[in-house]
Amino acid sequence: MKDKICIITGASSGMGLATAAALAGKGATLGLVSRNRSKGETVVKSITEKTKNSKIELFIADLSSQADIRKLANEIKTKFPKIDVLINNAGGINPKRIVTIDGFELTFAVNHLAYFLFTNLLLENLKAAPKARIVSVASVASNYGKINFKDLNFEKKYYSFKAYAQSKLANIIFTYELANRLKGTNVTANCLHPGMVKTRFATEMNNYFGFFWKLINPILITAEKGAETAIWLASSPEVEGISGKYFKEKKEVKSIRSSYDIATQQRLWAVSESMTNL
Ligand SMILES: NC(=O)c1ccc[n+]([C@@H]2O[C@H](COP(=O)([O-])OP(=O)(O)OC[C@H]3O[C@@H](n4cnc5c(N)ncnc54)[C@H](OP(=O)(O)O)[C@@H]3O)[C@@H](O)[C@H]2O)c1
Repeated sequence: MKDKICIITGASSGMGLATAAALAGKGATLGLVSRNRSKGETVVKSITEKTKNSKIELFIADLSSQADIRKLANEIKTKFPKIDVLINNAGGINPKRIVTIDGFELTFAVNHLAYFLFTNLLLENLKAAPKARIVSVASVASNYGKINFKDLNFEKKYYSFKAYAQSKLANIIFTYELANRLKGTNVTANCLHPGMVKTRFATEMNNYFGFFWKLINPILITAEKGAETAIWLASSPEVEGISGKYFKEKKEVKSIRSSYDIATQQRLWAVSESMTNL
């Protein structure tokens, strides 16, 4: 990965941090995105100490804010005219319905709209690299998801797991439509389920899902193990040229049937474009 520029969101914790450390270990130049400067600085310092790789830049942005995402994209584009790898990883599940500064439900905004907007804003720079890869961290929760076009923001009634499952299904649908749009270019787009991973994910949940998550805590895998498929998709020659696929444990797997519906893919793209003023 020497000479490769990799951008990673959610690098301050869990799998984003593990992915960043692994790619730094492989010699990549990193652009790490964190919403918290002091946390980000601690991460950069610890990865540099551990890997002896000092080619790590920190960028600060709250990905729930589209103004922040636009500012972040501009900063990254100025710093890195060519981007080889973009890993959309930041996200989570939220116990209560929160409305973002742009007026959207937080889970949909951070888990899906941020992936969508940030990726689109960086596309030119990804296309400028010889071969670029977009990797989006989705989830098996997508199997329980439905894109509720009539109420994407859960205005009627909020269910935390339904909101999470919808957003993770959106990651997969977005990847399929993106890969389709990128056909004939040097950029691939894939997504993955990392496994059930012991990170800060769901630790603030106090409902039935939080109870379930605590119950299965002993069988959760480490962040390092959970990051393996994202690292592999970002760096392995085995997946060069492969695009528009969903992976688990470094193997291509089928996603839920509704994710393959072309009309849904195009509709989600159009709605996301309008929600992000692209
Ligand atoms: N853990 C699992 O079992 C599991 C399973 C399937 C998929 N996933 C997915 O894996 C990805 C990484 O999650 P994780 O398990 O590693 O959880 P985590 O330890 O909670 O890490 C989430 C990361 O996202 C960042 N983030 C959240 N909201 C943000 C915002 N508004 N702006 C900027 N950054 C934000 C967090 O920043 P802070 O450090 O500032 O909070 C943190 O760096 C998520 O997309 C999640 O949906 C996780």
